[in-house]
Amino acid sequence: MAEFQLSLTFADAPIDQFARDARGAMSQKEKQGAILFFGKAKCVSCHQVAGESNEMFSDFRNHVIGVPQISPLNTNSTFDGPSGNEDFGMEQISGKAADRYKFRTSPLRNVGLQPTFFHNGAFTRLEDAVAHHLDVWKSALFYTPVGRLDADLAGPTGPTLPVLIRLDEKLRTPIKLTRDEFAQLVAFLRTGLLDERARPERLARLIPERLPSELEPLEFEVGD
Ligand code: HEC
Repeated sequence: MAEFQLSLTFADAPIDQFARDARGAMSQKEKQGAILFFGKAKCVSCHQVAGESNEMFSDFRNHVIGVPQISPLNTNSTFDGPSGNEDFGMEQISGKAADRYKFRTSPLRNVGLQPTFFHNGAFTRLEDAVAHHLDVWKSALFYTPVGRLDADLAGPTGPTLPVLIRLDEKLRTPIKLTRDEFAQLVAFLRTGLLDERARPERLARLIPERLPSELEPLEFEVGD
């Protein structure tokens, strides 16, 4: 099993090839986006690459980043808070009130292939997930799930202000990017960090047609 899992690590994206001296591996747009990611947009302060981060674009720590609280209408899971529509995040595990609304920094490799973003899938477009970080207050206060998420997730959203009050100080001041800069940052994430081998069409080939147990193999949704 461990061998199989290791074979599913896809970390040969344009940025890795560029770092190994293939200067043409990244487009101009992706390179500009990388400069923003590591510079003015300050993404690397949490989505780290050095030392123990092992080039995974995460500090593997927990932060409050103010993701809108959505909870499914029909669920067997228990949600937190007085109205049962909140997720206290790390506090559920540590039991410490100081950890309320904290979630672990997501690694960003192959993020362009994801259909949804953040721990609860509150956003379905990479652009919205990035814009959220650049101006958390605006993104969270004007958030509406309607029309973007599956019907059972378009239900009641938990309160926003108690989350925003605890916002990580790194995200408290909005960062202004021009339209071009924003597009560059998104391009860096979407294709600059993408290892083509991680595409679902390719992974789907690993699904066996028959199992040794003779049980029916599970059906997987394969992206476009
Ligand atoms: C204060 C730390 C912090 C900073 C700074 C930060 N992020 Fe994040 N980021 C997080 C955390 C924590 C999550 C996961 C939140 C969750 O799951 O609810 C996340 C999630 C994401 C995701 C969604 C990934 C997924 O798998 O769903 C993207 C995309 C992202 N960040 C991009 C960026 C970009 C681009 C920047 C710079 C503009 C940035 N982040 C700056 C902490 C940070």
